[in-house]
Amino acid sequence: MCGIIGYIGKEDAVPIIIDGLKKLEYRGYDSAGIAIYGQNGFDVVKQKGRLAALEERLSSRQLENNPLSGHLGIGHTRWATHGEPSDINSHPHVGSRNKIAVVHNGIIENYRQLKERLEYSVQNSEGVTFASQTDSEVIAQLAEHYYCMDNVNAGDLIDTVIRVSNAVEGSYALGIMCIDEPDVLIAVKKDNPLIIGVSDSGNFIASDVPAVLKYTKEVYYLNDKEIAVIRSGSVQFFNMDKEPLHKTTETVTWSMDSAEKGGYPHFMLKEIMEQPKVLRDTIQSVLGEGANKNVFDNICVSRFKKIAIAACGSAYNAGVTAKYVFEKLCRLSVETDLASEFRYKDPIIDNKTLVILVSQSGETADTIAAMREAKSKGAATLSIVNVLGSTIAKEADYCLFTAAGPEIAVATTKAFSAQLVLLYMLAIRFAHKLGLLTEYDEQELFVEIAALPYKVSAILEQTDAIQKYASTCVGYKSIFFIGRNIDYAIALEGSLKLKEISYIHSEAYAGGELKHGTISLVEENTLVVTISNCASLFGKIMSNAQQVISRGAKVLLIGNCSEIDDDTETEKLYYISLPHVSDIFSPSLSVVVLQLFSYYVAANKGLDIDKPRNLAKSVTVE
Ligand code: F6R
Repeated sequence: MCGIIGYIGKEDAVPIIIDGLKKLEYRGYDSAGIAIYGQNGFDVVKQKGRLAALEERLSSRQLENNPLSGHLGIGHTRWATHGEPSDINSHPHVGSRNKIAVVHNGIIENYRQLKERLEYSVQNSEGVTFASQTDSEVIAQLAEHYYCMDNVNAGDLIDTVIRVSNAVEGSYALGIMCIDEPDVLIAVKKDNPLIIGVSDSGNFIASDVPAVLKYTKEVYYLNDKEIAVIRSGSVQFFNMDKEPLHKTTETVTWSMDSAEKGGYPHFMLKEIMEQPKVLRDTIQSVLGEGANKNVFDNICVSRFKKIAIAACGSAYNAGVTAKYVFEKLCRLSVETDLASEFRYKDPIIDNKTLVILVSQSGETADTIAAMREAKSKGAATLSIVNVLGSTIAKEADYCLFTAAGPEIAVATTKAFSAQLVLLYMLAIRFAHKLGLLTEYDEQELFVEIAALPYKVSAILEQTDAIQKYASTCVGYKSIFFIGRNIDYAIALEGSLKLKEISYIHSEAYAGGELKHGTISLVEENTLVVTISNCASLFGKIMSNAQQVISRGAKVLLIGNCSEIDDDTETEKLYYISLPHVSDIFSPSLSVVVLQLFSYYVAANKGLDIDKPRNLAKSVTVE
């Protein structure tokens, strides 16, 4: 989704904003822009396409001896929702009177009504003419209207921001500059993330921490409907009644390196390779001291009759995988729902239900809505989140943090693995609290979990076979993934990963479902990735593999299958073996091979792996 960065301080704002925009590229965008408070007022450059195109425009300005420069500015990467990607629809938007410049992330749901009202006044010679097709321009025009036209409180920027916030419906994170206030940058948000970074050389606003990590680790997390008035050496906060608020900064633990590629061709590969450390850190967050351990110790599971898990995309797949583990260990009924469905289905939950929300970003609109739906029905909510200070982290009754660090590639890898491991550990702890596992059994399972990072390292040390096999798969139009039981759950994630970055059509099926329709899609040289870690189901999944092979398909078998020997491999069946692990934890190993497979297929196709087309990292709109 869109990305916002703003700066006010001693340095030239332009390189800081461009650098920040680059750090936000991962969120997905199709145009970008920057507005600087220059010597002659607002100086705006907007450009459809990648940031490189915007940079080219800035370089031309330099060559023409007209460089963009100033100490206050806002920048934006736009992911088009209302109006096509174009220069004019890009942000920042400046009102017709050239008084207010705005960058916006979110959706203004009542923009049509507001626009009509503002345009209507044109007939009275006071109205405005809109330049773009966007909902966001309404904010700039409306702000100017309040700032310039009304008698009451006219000319007061904070009053203006309050009035705009009260008038718009929908979600927003805003960075605002006013022509009469060359020393002030305003930030305000509702249902969209915005942080404020503070440093000795200036202060920042940003959609996400990686945009400011190079300059500071001290950040304020802005809450909904809080206004920040940011100057070079100070930040003041107000509520919507214009009362001052006291907020304190938090220190970010993420390192600057984590937002750099560090020699890897893509963030995705770097993040895949980081998984042993991420797993270790996440496991330690439960076994050592700290916030996660406290949640594990304090949550009273005996009061719950049911667990519901709601999430989107890969986070949903982590939930589906965890369902098998919770049900096996805890004998509790677990429902998994796509968050976008959960919120509208009138879920059957009450104060005896624990609703688990899984989200890397903590800002996914549907998952936030699912959490609020759960709370409104009296259910307890527990979130598993990667981003400190995010909405889901703050609003859930309990929050567990995945120690994945910033995840930049759009396709999630390390955060998914961290979610899985936290969910396994939660299931183990719940089973112990419910009296279904002795303390000894619990410890034994934790010991097995603690060995997972080493097993993942072993897979990552031998990627040649996967890489070689993947290089033969670029021509497929369609690739299927099958598995049974928990292998089916992780097949869903393998399929999602492949389609999002390689653009190859893909579906995942439970092995037993094949004969109920899907097998009609299998023809000569179809590829069926088959996952087999459940020893008791080996015979069944292998017979599914044989059924597709007899219809001309090729099988890539991934798993820990002691029955496979050299003779089993044929021209039609290629086997990648995994280290031994209990069935219930095997997804943590399978997924690494599936991630690498997708990565290498996409790399062989020469695709933009970190920023797949049409996708955004953090889906902050419905
Ligand atoms: C897939 C992927 C998405 C996210 C989904 C939820 O690789 O990254 O499917 O998993 O958009 O996002 P979060 O976890 O931020 O709620």
